[in-house]
Amino acid sequence: VLARVTVAAVYVSCDRIVTCAPGALPRRRDFDLGILEGAAMRIENGRVSWIGSREEAPDESVYLQGTIVPGLVDAHTHPVYAGSRLHEFALRAKGATYQEIHAAGGGIHSTVRATRAASYEELLARTERVLARMLRHGTTTLEAKSGYGLDEATEIRDLQLLGDVASPMRIVRTYLGAHAMPPDFADRREEFVKTLIEQTLPRIARERLADACDVFCEDGAFTLDESRRILAAARAHGLDVKAHAEEFAYLGGARMAASLGARSVDHLLSLPEHDFAALAESGTVAVLLPGTTLFLGKERYAPARGLIDAGVPVAIATDFNAGSCMTESLPMAMSLAVLKMKMTPEEALIGATVNASHALGVSDVCGSLEVGKAADFLVLEVDDPREWLYHFGVNLVREVWIAGRRVSDDIPC
Ligand code: NIG
Ligand code: FE
Repeated sequence: VLARVTVAAVYVSCDRIVTCAPGALPRRRDFDLGILEGAAMRIENGRVSWIGSREEAPDESVYLQGTIVPGLVDAHTHPVYAGSRLHEFALRAKGATYQEIHAAGGGIHSTVRATRAASYEELLARTERVLARMLRHGTTTLEAKSGYGLDEATEIRDLQLLGDVASPMRIVRTYLGAHAMPPDFADRREEFVKTLIEQTLPRIARERLADACDVFCEDGAFTLDESRRILAAARAHGLDVKAHAEEFAYLGGARMAASLGARSVDHLLSLPEHDFAALAESGTVAVLLPGTTLFLGKERYAPARGLIDAGVPVAIATDFNAGSCMTESLPMAMSLAVLKMKMTPEEALIGATVNASHALGVSDVCGSLEVGKAADFLVLEVDDPREWLYHFGVNLVREVWIAGRRVSDDIPC
């Protein structure tokens, strides 16, 4: 006799649910958070199957004290690396700049050397610890880039590793082989770009090792033309495209990527106003990374207000990496978005949930709490979700649930 397998529905109730649900995606002008006071949710097969008021929920529902928000979506991270850049942190305090350290063979190059030399097991364990810290701070979905191998073998190893990590988190993988020009290719740039386009990229697409392709379009990294060729090839191979653009110098990378249908363009500190309309029109999400400006000791933040007022969809991410932004805390980046870029707390919350999931192409799965989407959520010890950002640099996440399961119990700090 075959037993009928049914997964019992679980009801959770709480003081309020912040759904982040109302409004078409990506969210641009309306930042209503969709707050339901005294709310409850039914979870079946890892998804939300009903949302309503606490009175309508059955008595056996699990009461979670506090405010439920969607699990955060970190749309820009570089978590696979070995070594440390602590010495650069100290050097910058003495006045050295990120670009000077990079040009002197430190920076990305030093992480590449350490990452190439690391064993798979060491790297896997380190990456899992990074992800665990992100999760503790409320991230349930992340975009994770390769980019500290540069050569084909190491890039592929690191993308495979991202597929092997033991973590309940949802991971969207991005190939960033064009993160820096390896010093031994300094006089043979074209050879590096050609191998990437004709050999590595097609293999990564064929073996489904990444969902997207990124490029660091910047003075001292890849030119506008090299970046365009790489992203156009990625598109032709069916990958999503995105770019690190106008972080220090303005090269026109954001417009170029948008014209190729990029899901996002990231950094944008030096993006001039006359390029805002092109992004608003293409619907490309501007992923802003205020933690990086802070960490690099720069004065200039991305023009968040201008972008939002021009109708560009904006997301906030950590840019977690050892060199330019050493933090796994997306709430910290959200607080900085408010403190340094004058975004409203609502805009920052939308920017780290639904707009971020849109930037990653996973908004049908996560980013908001709605019937049919994953039951990925956090329980916060706040009465108003804006308090989470107001109370900056302090972790107010009480519980983390992914696909209807409380995962914060099993994640070591
Ligand atoms: O987004 N800008 C390029 N990539 C990273 C920095 C990586 C590194 O310094 O290791 C960023 O800031
Ligand atoms: Fe980055």
